[in-house]
Amino acid sequence: MSDKKIAVVTGASRGIGRAIALELARSGAFVIVNYNGSREKAEQVQSLIEAEGGEAVIEQCNVADFKACGEFISSIIKKYVRVDILVNNAGITKDDLVMRMSEEDFSQVIDVNLKGTFNCIRQVSRQMLKQRSGRIINMASVVGVSGNAGQANYAASKAGVIGLTKSVAKELASRGVTVNAIAPGFIETDMTEVLSEKVREATTGMIPMGTFGRPEDVAKAVGFLASDGAGYVTGQVLCVDGGMAM
Ligand code: NAI
Repeated sequence: MSDKKIAVVTGASRGIGRAIALELARSGAFVIVNYNGSREKAEQVQSLIEAEGGEAVIEQCNVADFKACGEFISSIIKKYVRVDILVNNAGITKDDLVMRMSEEDFSQVIDVNLKGTFNCIRQVSRQMLKQRSGRIINMASVVGVSGNAGQANYAASKAGVIGLTKSVAKELASRGVTVNAIAPGFIETDMTEVLSEKVREATTGMIPMGTFGRPEDVAKAVGFLASDGAGYVTGQVLCVDGGMAM
């Protein structure tokens, strides 16, 4: 384990996070599979990784909780001495038109998607600076670039993630730490399963490649940004969207 890269993936019990955890394990990393509520699903991800000959542990943490994130990351550094890869993937939606959106739904989405990303970066950045190496990859969204009716809170949180990514990239670049964002389009997960057939059809019509993406499509892009080969790439927003945002 000691010679493996240590990778932390937040919200890795299902969907895109799960695919990222599997991808990083396949590339030889020791993966910390973070989950908030679904321990059983996180254990399944760990078992899958182990069945393929990889190594992983599961760790509970609500990324929206600053103090809990501090304890989460410092316990990882204590146990594994370093953190090579941090993937801020955890995210939620609470969609509604802005005139009907509750203050609580606005705040919760910002707290998980944007502040949760800050919370983990805040805790990990000192260690990566000390190591003089590290990869931070944040999950944004194409709607953070283009906006989306009914998702003012979510689009604001993802636009915030992009600004956060570029700012931290500038702060950490001189010490060999890269910080990038991925902006997925529409990917087949629990998050998009709730879309009505009508919305799904209209959305598919906006995707040049004509289909929703798969979690693995996003995971492969994360795999590249986390790799040694991406050492000169920082502050970028990589769209994985079948051409939707171009
Ligand atoms: P999902 O809903 O299937 O998975 C989200 C994961 O985040 C779950 O494992 C959930 O337990 C975890 N999570 C939620 N709140 C958390 C918290 N407070 N602390 C720790 N973990 C927490 O969603 P999906 O589709 O896999 O999304 C993953 C990321 O990709 C999210 O950031 C999402 O915004 C982003 N994304 C997804 C797109 C899609 O079409 N599915 C498109 C663009 C971005």
